[in-house]
Amino acid sequence: MAHIALYRKWRPETFEDVVGQGHITKTLKNQMKNDSIAHAYLFCGTRGTGKTSTAKIFARAVNCLNPHDGNPCNECEICSGIKHENMMDVMEIDAASNNGVDDIRELRENVKYPPTKGKYKVYIIDEVHMLSTGAFNALLKTLEEPPHYVIFILATTEPHKIPATILSRCQRFDFKRVKESEMVDRLAYICENMNIEVEKSGLELISRNSDGALRDALSILDQCLSFGAEKISYDDVIDVLGTVNDDFLFHLVSCILSQDTKSAMELIEQLIESGKDIHQFIKDLIEHYRNLMMTKISNQLEGIVNLSRESIERLKEQAEKINMHTITRAIAVLSQTSVDAKWTSQPRILLEVAVMKLSHPMLEQSADALMDRVQALEKIIQSGEIKVSREIESKEMNGEKKSIAMSKSAVEKIDHKEKVLPKGEIFEVLKKSWNEILKVIKKRKISLNAVLMEGEPVGMQDHTLIIAFNDGFEFHKEASAQGTEFIEKAIKEITGQKIKMRCLMRKEISSIQVSENESKENEETKEENKEVDKIETLFEDCNLKILD
Ligand SMILES: Nc1ncnc2c1ncn2[C@@H]1O[C@H](COP(=O)(O)OP(=O)(O)O)[C@@H](O)[C@H]1O
Ligand SMILES: [Mg+2]
Ligand SMILES: [Zn+2]
Repeated sequence: MAHIALYRKWRPETFEDVVGQGHITKTLKNQMKNDSIAHAYLFCGTRGTGKTSTAKIFARAVNCLNPHDGNPCNECEICSGIKHENMMDVMEIDAASNNGVDDIRELRENVKYPPTKGKYKVYIIDEVHMLSTGAFNALLKTLEEPPHYVIFILATTEPHKIPATILSRCQRFDFKRVKESEMVDRLAYICENMNIEVEKSGLELISRNSDGALRDALSILDQCLSFGAEKISYDDVIDVLGTVNDDFLFHLVSCILSQDTKSAMELIEQLIESGKDIHQFIKDLIEHYRNLMMTKISNQLEGIVNLSRESIERLKEQAEKINMHTITRAIAVLSQTSVDAKWTSQPRILLEVAVMKLSHPMLEQSADALMDRVQALEKIIQSGEIKVSREIESKEMNGEKKSIAMSKSAVEKIDHKEKVLPKGEIFEVLKKSWNEILKVIKKRKISLNAVLMEGEPVGMQDHTLIIAFNDGFEFHKEASAQGTEFIEKAIKEITGQKIKMRCLMRKEISSIQVSENESKENEETKEENKEVDKIETLFEDCNLKILD
């Protein structure tokens, strides 16, 4: 026998089977009992929430020979006629494919004849918002003076597209998204009836990923079943959904928090290799941050956070290491990434850039990122009597979020591994064109631009341009170095200079070069001082004093 999709096989038979829409089914049952049925209904709501199912139950109930408490018996001649779709009195019309004036005219002809067997003729018009203007007008005429034996049930996911004239003639019911717990219960009920063993955490994961649409949940369950296993486990669901398990999310966020970009990038590599869907993964990561946020604001997590007890414990641990605005910033960055990722053929790069931004707030200029940096400074300052000189502080502004002690030692530890020649004319040209070069690279390889931005052209060594990176930016240096050829091409394109390029850490560059750069640094100091002033105001706001 052909496989019948679960969501068809398990179409609700009575109003009680329809979950999560009690406000609607109760009203409909009462109308039936009180004989106060309307002639036109509008069922609105997301797909897969029970609109068609409820319409069909209602169509049977009003015609049933032995209704029980407002429900159809589902056994009498009429109920089974309707169920097997061989009763002309109940008609389902798909407005998406019958949306013309002629279709509705035909319907109006049909409406003239009273029901053959039942008490009512019921017309279920699905996707009614797809009707043409002419068709709506034709329908309106019928709705204005319907014969007493006619009931229209119009169903739509987009009620705002229905003309007001039609709306005003219908009794409107809004179908809600089905709650996760209600969904889990329904799925568990269906599995039990089919003798399928399934892990509850698996059902919870399905529900979480169905966005309130029970039909989607049943489709996912169907796919899990087609794996052929006797038991559906949490991991089976993960495989079907192409998501990752919680462990992976905890691990990635922990890398982000410790600014271990290298490991984070490796995890993303792993993600790609195992064929996971990036779009789904970004959503999962957002959900993880959302869970961290909930953990921070509430102790009562059951029902708010859909995770096992152990995972909630881990969530609490991780939440302690992260502050609220870092979380909200992460959610904002990732949400934007999720939107942008839809329009690119390279979602992976966007994910990498996002993770980079999260791990290194200094890559970003937003107020939130600045807050992150200020808080990091606060911690350092609170940790002891540290004298913050302007010079070093401006280095902080340049993006070295390492401790101040480290910046100092970095300055002291300059060793003499490489000698960079004094800059000549070529260097001047390159230096002037650097921003333009970066722009060209950004257009073609946004991730390369993101890392290279942290570097600075500092001089020439033979015929090689040296790009220096500050302490703490090893990752950026490495990543930039991997794009050497690409960068050299861009340099050639913009400046016409066929030269080589090399990335080095500042501490790898000899002190000769550092002094060569002094004049330039003076210019920059002015700019930086402005930044320092800004930061000082921030510090004052935080009631912190800078020792001068
Ligand atoms: N509220 C619900 N209660 C029980 N099952 C539901 C519900 N909503 C959807 N389903 C399941 O999804 C299938 C499709 O639902 P349907 O009523 O056609 O949704 P809609 O018309 O709102 O898109 C049903 O056959 C049923 O298996
Ligand atoms: Mg439907
Ligand atoms: Zn019946």
